[in-house]
Amino acid sequence: WMLYHCCFRRVNEPPLDIGWIPYIGKAVEFGKDAHGFLLQQKKKFGDVFTILIAGKYMTFIMDPLMYPNIIKHGRQLDFHSFSDTMAPLVFGYPPVRSYRSPSLHEDIQRAFKLLQGDHLCALTESMMGNLMMLLRQQHLGLKPKVGSGWKTDDMYEFCSRIMFEATFNTLYGTPQDGGRHGAVEKLRRELFQFDSWFPLLVAGIPIGLLRQAKTSRNKLLKNLLPNRISSWSNRSQFISRRQELVEKVDVLTDMDRAAHHFAMLWASVANTIPACFWSMYNLVSHPDALRVVRQQIFDVLKLSGVEFSVDKDVTLSKDFLDKLLYLESAINESLRLSSASMNIRVAQEDFSLHLKNERSVKVRKDDIIVLYPQSLHMDPEVYEDPQMFQFDRYIQDNSGKSVFFKDGQKLKYYLMPFGSGSSMCPGRHFAINEIKQFLCLMLLYFDLELDLGQTRATVDSSRAGLGILFPSTNVRFRYRLQKNI
Ligand code: HEM
Ligand SMILES: *[C@@H]1O[C@H](CO)[C@@H](O)[C@H](O)[C@H]1NC(C)=O
Ligand SMILES: *[C@@H]1O[C@H](CO)[C@@H](O)[C@H](O)[C@H]1NC(C)=O
Repeated sequence: WMLYHCCFRRVNEPPLDIGWIPYIGKAVEFGKDAHGFLLQQKKKFGDVFTILIAGKYMTFIMDPLMYPNIIKHGRQLDFHSFSDTMAPLVFGYPPVRSYRSPSLHEDIQRAFKLLQGDHLCALTESMMGNLMMLLRQQHLGLKPKVGSGWKTDDMYEFCSRIMFEATFNTLYGTPQDGGRHGAVEKLRRELFQFDSWFPLLVAGIPIGLLRQAKTSRNKLLKNLLPNRISSWSNRSQFISRRQELVEKVDVLTDMDRAAHHFAMLWASVANTIPACFWSMYNLVSHPDALRVVRQQIFDVLKLSGVEFSVDKDVTLSKDFLDKLLYLESAINESLRLSSASMNIRVAQEDFSLHLKNERSVKVRKDDIIVLYPQSLHMDPEVYEDPQMFQFDRYIQDNSGKSVFFKDGQKLKYYLMPFGSGSSMCPGRHFAINEIKQFLCLMLLYFDLELDLGQTRATVDSSRAGLGILFPSTNVRFRYRLQKNI
């Protein structure tokens, strides 16, 4: 099959670069510095080329002006045939399309609506309650004594602890007797232990060969068995609905059902936490930006007639969050700088894919087409000084800016941390909202500063292709209750 691919390229097929090592192909170079590597390939081969990565031939489309034509081919270039084979390997449930339950796939897709639209108001309210409860118990408990001393912490861990628990409670509910899940910290550690194996699992290494990953996954599944989840109160409608759906399928064991819940839990925190970290880090390390963002939060609070003081709980509704343009721009800018997901599509048939102007390429059934938006996010033609954090980059004339250019042409897609078209993240509005809530609370209640003498945190590219990148170093910060305003 490899010979066929390498030696019998048909006319009009993209150039192919397979590297020296069969199977691994270019995975090593890609893993070291995906962005730099793809730029190099682009110089050699142009905007469209095929690379062998971890046993898969992937055709990269580098010109963002070609994106719309790829994204609109939803039927011929399918996302789910890829995720439906990969997710079971990683999370451990049997492939959804094998259940002889023809509507399940569609039902699961339909249930994603429960994360959006009007349902977002209830989720936002619940998230607010959970965040406030954690802040009260963990961080405000020091009695809001004005001017009391600083506390220091690791910024990533701080974001991770709060966002994990608050998101978990919001989606899965809390113990019957109210309060907090006793095992939540153990669950979080186990999840991120598992997550460190994620790149290898996605690359196709069988979990049987990764003993620690398998042990971790088993422990996690046991915590997410259907009868445990049913015993919690205040579950989100979204999770309740998914429970009903997997309950109905009688070929599934309870461990299979738990694996479905586990996949969702992973999806709901694995990207949100690093995104939250980068948003907080970028603001705290740019005090001028932080001042403007904070001022707008206070201004909008005042306009909404809310009297704020640090000794009171505050409620931030979805309508309120929608008005925080500077905060939203700063979050979008943080996502631009830190996201490195691949958008993967699998050809469902042989066809000629129209790219741009007169240009097309031949695509064969089962070929993989990849968009890599990090190249767009870091393109100096689209974003001036692309390495710089400019908190108001997405604002123009007091409203959101959505006009960006490449080669003098307006881009339809210029910011893609959440994927595109049929594979667009269904949790994106919820994610942005919870990051906004977290940051609002941080900025309202606390003074925040980086500890002195630290080098700038940069992204660690070893997970390029898989979502929001992690920081390459730990960041220490300090916080104290704000003086009453
Ligand atoms: C900043 C945070 C987040 C980022 C950057 C993000 C990013 C993404 C991306 C890029 C995809 C598409 C994957 C692909 O094309 O291969 C995706 C899919 C998905 N995301 Fe998110 N996500 C975030 C938060 C969330 C949250 C909070 C939830 C749930 C509450 C969620 C649930 C999902 C699900 C279920 C899918 C799969 C959709 C499907 O199978 O059709 N995500 N996410
Ligand atoms: C469930 O949510 C309601 C309203 O948000 C709240 O009043 C109640 O205390 C919660 N129950 C538990 C057990 O957390
Ligand atoms: C931020 O990005 C989202 C899409 O990811 C977009 O809907 C929103 O308008 C953007 N907001 C600003 C201020 O750029």
